[in-house]
Amino acid sequence: MPSVCIMPGDDATPEAVLPSVDVLKALELDLDFRIMPSGAEGTERYGHKDFAQRVRDAMDAADTTLYGSTSGTSPGLGYLRWGKGTYANVRPIRYLTGARSPLAEPDGIDFVIVRENMEDMYVGVEGDVEALAPLNLVNRLTRQPIDTTNGRYAIKIITEANSRRILEFGFDLARKRKALGHPGKVTASCKYNMLPHTDGLFREIAHDVARQNPDIEFEDYIVDDFARRIVAEPHALDVVVLPNLYGDILSDEASGLVGGLGLAPSACYADDFAYFEPVHGTAPDIAGTHTINPTATLLSAVLMLDWLELPDAARRLESAVEAVYREGDSLTPDQGGSATTDQFCAAVARRL
Ligand code: IPM
Ligand code: MN
Repeated sequence: MPSVCIMPGDDATPEAVLPSVDVLKALELDLDFRIMPSGAEGTERYGHKDFAQRVRDAMDAADTTLYGSTSGTSPGLGYLRWGKGTYANVRPIRYLTGARSPLAEPDGIDFVIVRENMEDMYVGVEGDVEALAPLNLVNRLTRQPIDTTNGRYAIKIITEANSRRILEFGFDLARKRKALGHPGKVTASCKYNMLPHTDGLFREIAHDVARQNPDIEFEDYIVDDFARRIVAEPHALDVVVLPNLYGDILSDEASGLVGGLGLAPSACYADDFAYFEPVHGTAPDIAGTHTINPTATLLSAVLMLDWLELPDAARRLESAVEAVYREGDSLTPDQGGSATTDQFCAAVARRL
């Protein structure tokens, strides 16, 4: 029987994750849910280091993980990304009728952000600018020396291999979606004008992969312009492939079109492993109120059920969530409703 490690996460997210697991249980599948303590409980019980090891062991022992969000207290997110090499962070942006969108015509918005998940600014290398002094760096545009007193730097790395892998993933996804009636288009974006060496490489590879996939339409935009296009022409998008940091930022922006972070799911895929998590953070401002919108967690679970090759269960859960939005009487406060998280989940469970 496939097993799922459940990480409730921090602050308000256990309040979304635990009732979502009850919804999953109501599907009556042969799945073994292994529920870990929340960040606060686990750290209190085992200490941070021991808890982190237990979490990694539990993740290794299970087939997949459904992860709440971490404020840093819950461990394991770095392990799930870099330890497991989940290089493709897939973030569907789809409007559910009844959700609260700021757009006049949100119906039909349906695209997927594919975010590179391994590198870019996320290599996590920062330091003091003084350390750069021996390099005698100059500004590319002015040729003036870079001031290396009293500041910090961060490193951005774009490799050929990781760029090619994420772009190929995006084109493959566009082809799968095309077979289901989507346009069959990839949009890539980065800041290649200002960063011709790093983002320029990403763009060059995007064009190369596009040439090898002539059945898929391709376009690319400079990322500031693209941030506007996401708002102005979201219906034109199908699959969007982005380097890590732009993918992080623009996926939050895009979620705003379809009702906000409470509705944005994600899946991170390696070739033979995947884990699932909402795009949102831990919502500390509403912790304890049981009003966090669990939709992002439930839709992440839909992606998980598909990955576990349980497509019928995935469609049942997805349809039940859609029905709750359509009917509109059990929505959480972020969607203009007055239901608690548990009432929302119960409404989904009733519609399974
Ligand atoms: C996300 C989050 C994470 C990220 C944080 C929690 C490190 O914002 O999954 O988008 O930046 O990737
Ligand atoms: Mn983010």
